[in-house]
Amino acid sequence: LIEATLRPRALTDYIGQEKAKGNLRLFIDAARKRSEALDHVLLYGPPGLGKTTLANIIACEMGVSIKSTSGPVIERPGDLAAILTNLEPHDVLFIDEIHRLSHVVEEILYPAMEDFQLDIIIGQGPSARTVKLELPRFTLVGATTRAGLLSSPLRDRFGVISRLEFYTDAELATIVSRSARILAIPMEDDGALELARRSRGTPRIANRLLRRVRDFAQVRADGIITHAVVQDALALLEIDGMGFDQMDRLILLTIIDKFGGGPVGLDTIAAAISEESDTIEDVYEPFLIQNGFLNRTPRGRVATRTAYEHFGRIAPESPQRKL
Ligand code: ADE
Repeated sequence: LIEATLRPRALTDYIGQEKAKGNLRLFIDAARKRSEALDHVLLYGPPGLGKTTLANIIACEMGVSIKSTSGPVIERPGDLAAILTNLEPHDVLFIDEIHRLSHVVEEILYPAMEDFQLDIIIGQGPSARTVKLELPRFTLVGATTRAGLLSSPLRDRFGVISRLEFYTDAELATIVSRSARILAIPMEDDGALELARRSRGTPRIANRLLRRVRDFAQVRADGIITHAVVQDALALLEIDGMGFDQMDRLILLTIIDKFGGGPVGLDTIAAAISEESDTIEDVYEPFLIQNGFLNRTPRGRVATRTAYEHFGRIAPESPQRKL
């Protein structure tokens, strides 16, 4: 509930993601001018960057309702048919984790997206018949961590494809300051910036840390979030200077200590630390790669010199590990 109240509702209140925001502004204004439904939109990027928030903003800006669901929840074609036939014209249907739709459900999504028709099969065996249902014009907003996880027929049916990027420290500081204002948490500017710096470019992490740091400030300090309070609270939460948590450190130190810095295959790392390969790849790796701590090579993952230095280790002399 708190999370929901922190979500901005208008595009102008949405901080950062200037490219995605600029494109959406244009396409929304154009669709509105023509009194049409917005084209289908695919949002992709690491978790916590605001895909769900953007989907809700799109509906708000278009002045329509949004129905939200997720790929794994739609088990049978009938589940999707029920959702689609209950949409009003120009409504937004938001499907999170759209790469996890089953094949049979995906197949009935194609004609729904393209021709706003539903082909459903009624009955079984020789008496089975297909029935075509007209659907209202709607906007599908799909979200996924990587666009490459979608089958190309599904990806090709989105008119707008937007990649969300990690936020800068300044953008995150603005976001946590806004959240602190909404939650009536006193916070100094350098506290906000320090919190931003340790949030791995991710608003969801920044807003979660904000609540934990508030707890700390209220019990161990005078309630005001200062730079020093952020430092002490994050030390307690075992979040280091780069914002790495225990899992980030475990991944990097496993590559460094158990596999000589790599290259080592993703599945081997996953087995060594008892974590899902998909989680490592989609949740943890993007930030480590973007910030030069980890490289993906054809032969596997490699810890960079920067990673060695972060943990105070000496990097072995190997051309591959030089950045
Ligand atoms: N809360 C989460 N993401 C946000 C964003 N991009 N802008 C403003 N508030 C947010």
